[in-house]
Amino acid sequence: MSVRIIGTGSALPQKEVSNEDLARLVETSDEWIRERTGIGSRHISTGETVVSLAAGACKKALENAEKTAAQVELLLVATCTPEQGIPCAACQVQSILGAENAVAFDLNAACAGFLFALHTAWAYIEAGIYQNALIAGSEVLSKIIDWDDRGTCVLFGDGAGAVLLERGTRPGILGFVQHSDGTKGQVLQCDSRKLENPYISESQYAPYVQMDGREVFAFAVRQVPACIAEVLERTGLTPDDVDLYVLHQANRRIIEGISRRLSVDMQKFPMNLDRVGNMSSAAIPVLLDELHRAGRLREGMTLVLSGFGAGLTYGACVLRW
Ligand code: ACO
Repeated sequence: MSVRIIGTGSALPQKEVSNEDLARLVETSDEWIRERTGIGSRHISTGETVVSLAAGACKKALENAEKTAAQVELLLVATCTPEQGIPCAACQVQSILGAENAVAFDLNAACAGFLFALHTAWAYIEAGIYQNALIAGSEVLSKIIDWDDRGTCVLFGDGAGAVLLERGTRPGILGFVQHSDGTKGQVLQCDSRKLENPYISESQYAPYVQMDGREVFAFAVRQVPACIAEVLERTGLTPDDVDLYVLHQANRRIIEGISRRLSVDMQKFPMNLDRVGNMSSAAIPVLLDELHRAGRLREGMTLVLSGFGAGLTYGACVLRW
Protein backbone atom coordinates (compact mmCIF):
# COMPACT_ATOMS: atom_id res chain seq x y z
CA MET A 1 0.00 0.00 0.00
CA SER A 2 1.19 3.51 -0.67
CA VAL A 3 0.04 7.06 -0.05
CA ARG A 4 0.89 9.50 -2.83
CA ILE A 5 0.44 13.14 -3.78
CA ILE A 6 -1.63 13.13 -6.97
CA GLY A 7 -2.34 16.86 -7.40
CA THR A 8 -1.03 20.26 -6.33
CA GLY A 9 -2.37 23.82 -6.35
CA SER A 10 -1.60 27.27 -4.97
CA ALA A 11 -3.10 30.75 -4.62
CA LEU A 12 -1.41 34.06 -3.82
CA PRO A 13 -2.90 37.49 -3.08
CA GLN A 14 -2.85 39.86 -6.05
CA LYS A 15 -0.81 42.62 -4.44
CA GLU A 16 2.96 42.29 -4.65
CA VAL A 17 5.07 44.31 -2.24
CA SER A 18 8.75 44.81 -3.06
CA ASN A 19 11.61 45.52 -0.67
CA GLU A 20 11.62 49.08 -2.05
CA ASP A 21 7.95 49.41 -1.08
CA LEU A 22 8.83 48.36 2.48
CA ALA A 23 11.71 50.82 2.59
CA ARG A 24 9.02 53.52 2.31
CA LEU A 25 7.33 52.16 5.49
CA VAL A 26 10.27 51.35 7.78
CA GLU A 27 13.99 52.13 7.89
CA THR A 28 15.33 49.32 5.72
CA SER A 29 16.70 48.73 2.23
CA ASP A 30 16.48 46.22 -0.61
CA GLU A 31 20.18 45.48 -0.07
CA TRP A 32 19.77 44.67 3.67
CA ILE A 33 16.75 42.43 3.13
CA ARG A 34 18.25 40.53 0.17
CA GLU A 35 21.62 40.11 1.85
CA ARG A 36 20.22 38.81 5.19
CA THR A 37 17.23 36.82 3.92
CA GLY A 38 17.25 36.34 0.12
CA ILE A 39 13.77 37.89 -0.06
CA GLY A 40 13.00 40.40 -2.85
CA SER A 41 9.21 40.71 -2.73
CA ARG A 42 6.12 39.06 -1.29
CA HIS A 43 2.34 38.95 -1.83
CA ILE A 44 0.26 40.77 0.78
CA SER A 45 -3.48 40.44 1.27
CA THR A 46 -5.71 43.40 0.51
CA GLY A 47 -8.82 41.33 1.23
CA GLU A 48 -7.89 37.71 0.52
CA THR A 49 -8.34 35.50 3.58
CA VAL A 50 -6.90 32.24 4.87
CA VAL A 51 -10.17 30.64 3.79
CA SER A 52 -10.37 32.19 0.29
CA LEU A 53 -6.70 31.44 -0.44
CA ALA A 54 -6.98 27.86 0.86
CA ALA A 55 -10.14 27.31 -1.21
CA GLY A 56 -8.38 28.66 -4.33
CA ALA A 57 -5.38 26.39 -3.80
CA CYS A 58 -7.60 23.37 -3.08
CA LYS A 59 -9.67 23.91 -6.25
CA LYS A 60 -6.49 23.91 -8.33
CA ALA A 61 -5.16 20.78 -6.58
CA LEU A 62 -8.45 18.99 -7.31
CA GLU A 63 -8.38 20.07 -10.98
CA ASN A 64 -4.76 18.98 -11.22
CA ALA A 65 -5.64 15.54 -9.77
CA GLU A 66 -8.81 15.33 -11.94
CA LYS A 67 -10.98 14.74 -8.85
CA THR A 68 -14.18 16.39 -7.68
CA ALA A 69 -14.74 18.04 -4.31
CA ALA A 70 -17.43 15.47 -3.52
CA GLN A 71 -14.79 12.71 -3.68
CA VAL A 72 -12.69 14.23 -0.87
CA GLU A 73 -12.88 12.24 2.38
CA LEU A 74 -10.59 14.27 4.68
CA LEU A 75 -9.91 18.02 4.40
CA LEU A 76 -7.17 19.54 6.57
CA VAL A 77 -6.12 23.19 6.69
CA ALA A 78 -2.81 23.96 8.37
CA THR A 79 -2.81 27.57 9.54
CA CYS A 80 -1.67 29.75 12.42
CA THR A 81 -3.51 32.84 11.17
CA PRO A 82 -7.20 31.86 10.86
CA GLU A 83 -9.73 34.70 10.54
CA GLN A 84 -12.06 33.02 12.98
CA GLY A 85 -11.56 30.85 16.05
CA ILE A 86 -14.79 29.10 15.18
CA PRO A 87 -15.77 27.68 12.79
CA CYS A 88 -12.42 26.33 11.70
CA ALA A 89 -11.02 27.37 8.32
CA ALA A 90 -11.26 23.80 6.97
CA CYS A 91 -15.05 23.71 7.50
CA GLN A 92 -15.39 27.04 5.68
CA VAL A 93 -13.25 25.72 2.81
CA GLN A 94 -15.41 22.58 2.74
CA SER A 95 -18.48 24.76 2.30
CA ILE A 96 -16.94 26.82 -0.54
CA LEU A 97 -15.71 23.72 -2.38
CA GLY A 98 -18.88 21.68 -1.84
CA ALA A 99 -16.80 18.88 -0.34
CA GLU A 100 -19.86 17.62 1.50
CA ASN A 101 -18.49 14.13 2.14
CA ALA A 102 -15.27 15.29 3.82
CA VAL A 103 -14.39 15.46 7.49
CA ALA A 104 -12.73 18.86 7.94
CA PHE A 105 -10.56 20.36 10.66
CA ASP A 106 -7.59 22.69 11.18
CA LEU A 107 -4.12 21.97 12.46
CA ASN A 108 -1.67 24.53 13.85
CA ALA A 109 2.02 23.70 13.98
CA ALA A 110 3.10 27.10 12.58
CA CYS A 111 5.66 26.76 9.76
CA ALA A 112 5.73 22.97 10.18
CA GLY A 113 1.92 22.88 9.91
CA PHE A 114 1.61 21.64 6.33
CA LEU A 115 4.12 18.86 6.97
CA PHE A 116 2.38 17.76 10.18
CA ALA A 117 -0.98 17.82 8.36
CA LEU A 118 0.52 15.68 5.57
CA HIS A 119 1.73 13.16 8.17
CA THR A 120 -1.66 13.19 9.92
CA ALA A 121 -3.46 12.52 6.64
CA TRP A 122 -0.94 9.78 5.80
CA ALA A 123 -1.74 8.06 9.12
CA TYR A 124 -5.51 8.14 8.47
CA ILE A 125 -5.08 6.74 4.96
CA GLU A 126 -2.50 4.17 6.01
CA ALA A 127 -4.89 3.00 8.76
CA GLY A 128 -7.58 2.48 6.12
CA ILE A 129 -9.90 5.12 7.62
CA TYR A 130 -9.95 7.39 4.54
CA GLN A 131 -8.97 6.83 0.91
CA ASN A 132 -7.80 10.38 0.23
CA ALA A 133 -7.12 13.75 1.84
CA LEU A 134 -7.03 17.33 0.60
CA ILE A 135 -4.42 19.26 2.60
CA ALA A 136 -3.86 23.02 2.48
CA GLY A 137 -1.30 25.27 4.16
CA SER A 138 -2.75 28.78 4.19
CA GLU A 139 -1.60 31.97 5.91
CA VAL A 140 -2.38 35.65 6.04
CA LEU A 141 0.57 36.56 8.23
CA SER A 142 0.27 40.24 7.33
CA LYS A 143 -2.46 40.60 9.96
CA ILE A 144 -0.27 39.43 12.87
CA ILE A 145 2.80 41.43 11.90
CA ASP A 146 3.79 44.70 13.49
CA TRP A 147 4.29 46.86 10.38
CA ASP A 148 6.49 49.22 12.42
CA ASP A 149 8.92 46.42 13.32
CA ARG A 150 11.56 46.23 10.57
CA GLY A 151 13.02 43.10 12.19
CA THR A 152 9.93 41.05 11.27
CA CYS A 153 7.75 42.88 8.72
CA VAL A 154 10.27 42.32 5.91
CA LEU A 155 10.25 38.53 6.33
CA PHE A 156 6.71 37.35 5.72
CA GLY A 157 4.22 36.95 2.87
CA ASP A 158 0.64 35.67 2.46
CA GLY A 159 -0.52 32.71 0.38
CA ALA A 160 -1.76 29.14 0.24
CA GLY A 161 -0.76 25.83 -1.27
CA ALA A 162 -2.56 22.49 -1.35
CA VAL A 163 -2.05 18.85 -2.30
CA LEU A 164 -4.38 15.91 -2.82
CA LEU A 165 -3.10 12.75 -1.16
CA GLU A 166 -4.48 9.34 -2.18
CA ARG A 167 -4.06 5.67 -1.39
CA GLY A 168 -2.42 3.99 -4.38
CA THR A 169 -0.21 1.20 -5.55
CA ARG A 170 2.98 2.99 -6.60
CA PRO A 171 5.42 4.10 -3.86
CA GLY A 172 4.67 7.53 -2.38
CA ILE A 173 5.50 8.68 1.15
CA LEU A 174 8.41 6.48 2.28
CA GLY A 175 8.82 7.78 5.83
CA PHE A 176 8.74 10.81 8.10
CA VAL A 177 9.86 12.20 11.44
CA GLN A 178 8.40 15.05 13.47
CA HIS A 179 9.48 16.76 16.66
CA SER A 180 8.31 19.48 19.04
CA ASP A 181 10.15 21.43 21.72
CA GLY A 182 7.67 23.46 23.74
CA THR A 183 10.38 24.68 26.12
CA LYS A 184 11.62 27.06 23.36
CA GLY A 185 8.20 28.52 22.55
CA GLN A 186 9.21 32.04 23.56
CA VAL A 187 11.61 32.53 20.63
CA LEU A 188 8.73 33.06 18.20
CA GLN A 189 5.31 33.96 19.54
CA CYS A 190 2.10 35.90 19.01
CA ASP A 191 -0.98 36.14 21.27
CA SER A 192 -4.44 35.59 19.82
CA ARG A 193 -7.38 37.20 21.65
CA LYS A 194 -6.96 39.11 24.87
CA LEU A 195 -8.31 37.53 28.05
CA GLU A 196 -11.16 39.81 29.00
CA ASN A 197 -13.83 38.94 31.52
CA PRO A 198 -15.49 40.59 34.54
CA TYR A 199 -13.20 38.76 36.97
CA ILE A 200 -9.82 40.16 35.94
CA SER A 201 -8.54 43.71 36.08
CA GLU A 202 -5.70 43.63 33.57
CA SER A 203 -4.10 41.13 31.24
CA GLN A 204 -0.96 41.03 29.14
CA TYR A 205 -1.53 41.12 25.41
CA ALA A 206 1.00 41.00 22.54
CA PRO A 207 -1.02 40.52 19.35
CA TYR A 208 1.91 40.79 16.90
CA VAL A 209 4.73 38.39 16.06
CA GLN A 210 7.67 38.66 18.43
CA MET A 211 10.79 36.85 17.37
CA ASP A 212 14.32 36.22 18.52
CA GLY A 213 15.72 35.96 14.98
CA ARG A 214 19.14 34.67 15.99
CA GLU A 215 17.68 31.87 18.12
CA VAL A 216 15.34 30.85 15.29
CA PHE A 217 18.25 30.86 12.86
CA ALA A 218 20.44 28.72 15.15
CA PHE A 219 17.60 26.27 15.82
CA ALA A 220 16.86 25.78 12.12
CA VAL A 221 20.47 25.29 11.05
CA ARG A 222 21.08 22.80 13.87
CA GLN A 223 17.85 20.77 14.01
CA VAL A 224 16.77 20.57 10.36
CA PRO A 225 19.86 18.70 9.05
CA ALA A 226 19.65 16.34 12.05
CA CYS A 227 15.99 15.71 11.34
CA ILE A 228 16.65 15.09 7.62
CA ALA A 229 19.50 12.70 8.50
CA GLU A 230 17.12 10.88 10.85
CA VAL A 231 14.42 10.38 8.22
CA LEU A 232 16.98 9.31 5.60
CA GLU A 233 18.42 6.73 7.97
CA ARG A 234 14.92 5.41 8.69
CA THR A 235 14.25 4.97 5.00
CA GLY A 236 17.67 3.49 4.22
CA LEU A 237 18.72 6.41 1.99
CA THR A 238 21.69 8.78 1.91
CA PRO A 239 21.60 12.55 1.22
CA ASP A 240 22.93 11.84 -2.30
CA ASP A 241 19.94 9.59 -3.09
CA VAL A 242 17.64 12.60 -2.82
CA ASP A 243 16.86 14.52 -6.04
CA LEU A 244 15.33 17.63 -4.45
CA TYR A 245 15.08 19.10 -0.94
CA VAL A 246 11.85 21.09 -0.72
CA LEU A 247 12.37 23.05 2.49
CA HIS A 248 10.37 25.62 4.40
CA GLN A 249 11.23 28.96 2.77
CA ALA A 250 12.22 31.06 5.79
CA ASN A 251 15.55 32.47 4.74
CA ARG A 252 18.15 31.74 2.03
CA ARG A 253 21.00 31.74 4.55
CA ILE A 254 19.21 29.08 6.65
CA ILE A 255 18.84 26.89 3.54
CA GLU A 256 22.51 27.44 2.65
CA GLY A 257 23.50 26.44 6.20
CA ILE A 258 21.42 23.26 5.94
CA SER A 259 22.93 22.36 2.56
CA ARG A 260 26.45 22.80 3.99
CA ARG A 261 25.72 20.61 7.01
CA LEU A 262 24.29 17.87 4.79
CA SER A 263 27.16 18.30 2.27
CA VAL A 264 24.58 18.53 -0.51
CA ASP A 265 24.90 20.96 -3.44
CA MET A 266 22.62 24.02 -3.32
CA GLN A 267 21.33 23.03 -6.80
CA LYS A 268 19.18 20.44 -5.01
CA PHE A 269 17.45 23.10 -2.87
CA PRO A 270 14.86 24.89 -5.02
CA MET A 271 13.75 28.27 -3.65
CA ASN A 272 10.98 30.75 -4.32
CA LEU A 273 11.39 32.93 -1.22
CA ASP A 274 12.86 35.75 -3.32
CA ARG A 275 9.37 36.22 -4.85
CA VAL A 276 7.04 35.19 -1.99
CA GLY A 277 8.89 35.60 1.32
CA ASN A 278 8.18 33.34 4.27
CA MET A 279 4.57 32.09 4.05
CA SER A 280 4.79 29.77 7.08
CA SER A 281 2.64 26.66 6.51
CA ALA A 282 1.98 27.67 2.88
CA ALA A 283 5.66 27.71 1.92
CA ILE A 284 6.22 24.02 1.15
CA PRO A 285 2.99 23.32 -0.79
CA VAL A 286 3.35 26.52 -2.87
CA LEU A 287 6.93 25.61 -3.81
CA LEU A 288 5.88 22.03 -4.55
CA ASP A 289 3.10 23.31 -6.83
CA GLU A 290 5.51 25.65 -8.67
CA LEU A 291 7.98 22.80 -9.22
CA HIS A 292 5.22 20.46 -10.36
CA ARG A 293 3.74 22.93 -12.84
CA ALA A 294 7.22 23.78 -14.17
CA GLY A 295 7.75 20.07 -14.96
CA ARG A 296 10.62 19.75 -12.51
CA LEU A 297 9.08 16.79 -10.63
CA ARG A 298 9.47 13.61 -12.66
CA GLU A 299 7.96 10.25 -11.77
CA GLY A 300 10.29 8.21 -9.56
CA MET A 301 12.19 11.22 -8.18
CA THR A 302 13.04 11.16 -4.47
CA LEU A 303 12.08 14.30 -2.54
CA VAL A 304 12.68 15.40 1.03
CA LEU A 305 10.20 17.91 2.44
CA SER A 306 11.18 19.63 5.68
CA GLY A 307 9.35 22.24 7.74
CA PHE A 308 10.37 24.06 10.91
CA GLY A 309 8.99 26.89 12.96
CA ALA A 310 7.26 28.25 16.04
CA GLY A 311 6.47 25.85 18.82
CA LEU A 312 9.18 24.90 18.24
CA THR A 313 8.08 22.31 15.71
CA TYR A 314 10.07 20.58 12.99
CA GLY A 315 9.90 17.53 10.80
CA ALA A 316 10.90 15.91 7.53
CA CYS A 317 9.34 13.53 5.06
CA VAL A 318 10.81 11.41 2.25
CA LEU A 319 8.62 10.65 -0.71
CA ARG A 320 8.86 9.19 -4.17
CA TRP A 321 7.14 11.36 -6.78
N1 ACO B 1 16.57 46.56 7.76
C1 ACO B 1 17.70 47.15 8.20
N2 ACO B 1 18.26 46.86 9.38
C2 ACO B 1 17.64 45.94 10.16
C3 ACO B 1 16.45 45.30 9.76
C4 ACO B 1 15.91 45.66 8.51
N3 ACO B 1 14.79 45.10 8.03
N4 ACO B 1 16.09 44.43 10.73
C5 ACO B 1 17.01 44.52 11.70
N5 ACO B 1 17.93 45.43 11.36
C6 ACO B 1 19.10 45.85 12.11
C7 ACO B 1 18.96 45.64 13.60
O1 ACO B 1 18.25 46.71 14.20
C8 ACO B 1 20.40 45.60 14.04
O2 ACO B 1 20.89 46.90 14.14
P1 ACO B 1 21.90 47.31 15.33
O3 ACO B 1 23.13 46.45 15.10
O4 ACO B 1 22.10 48.75 15.09
O5 ACO B 1 21.17 46.97 16.59
C9 ACO B 1 21.09 44.92 12.87
O6 ACO B 1 20.21 45.07 11.74
C10 ACO B 1 21.37 43.47 13.11
O7 ACO B 1 20.18 42.88 13.57
P2 ACO B 1 20.08 41.35 13.85
O8 ACO B 1 18.69 41.01 14.29
O9 ACO B 1 21.19 40.92 14.71
O10 ACO B 1 20.33 40.82 12.36
P3 ACO B 1 20.60 39.36 11.86
O11 ACO B 1 21.85 39.33 11.11
O12 ACO B 1 20.43 38.35 12.96
O13 ACO B 1 19.44 39.16 10.83
C11 ACO B 1 17.30 38.06 10.65
C12 ACO B 1 18.07 39.21 11.26
C13 ACO B 1 17.30 38.22 9.13
C14 ACO B 1 15.87 38.10 11.16
C15 ACO B 1 18.03 36.74 11.04
O14 ACO B 1 18.21 36.68 12.44
C16 ACO B 1 17.27 35.56 10.61
O15 ACO B 1 17.20 35.28 9.43
N6 ACO B 1 16.72 34.78 11.55
C17 ACO B 1 15.85 33.71 11.21
C18 ACO B 1 14.50 34.17 11.49
C19 ACO B 1 13.47 33.70 10.53
O16 ACO B 1 13.71 33.28 9.43
N7 ACO B 1 12.25 33.80 11.00
C20 ACO B 1 11.14 33.50 10.21
C21 ACO B 1 10.06 32.98 11.04
S1 ACO B 1 10.44 31.48 11.75
C22 ACO B 1 10.36 30.34 10.62
O17 ACO B 1 9.78 30.49 9.60
C23 ACO B 1 11.05 29.14 10.94
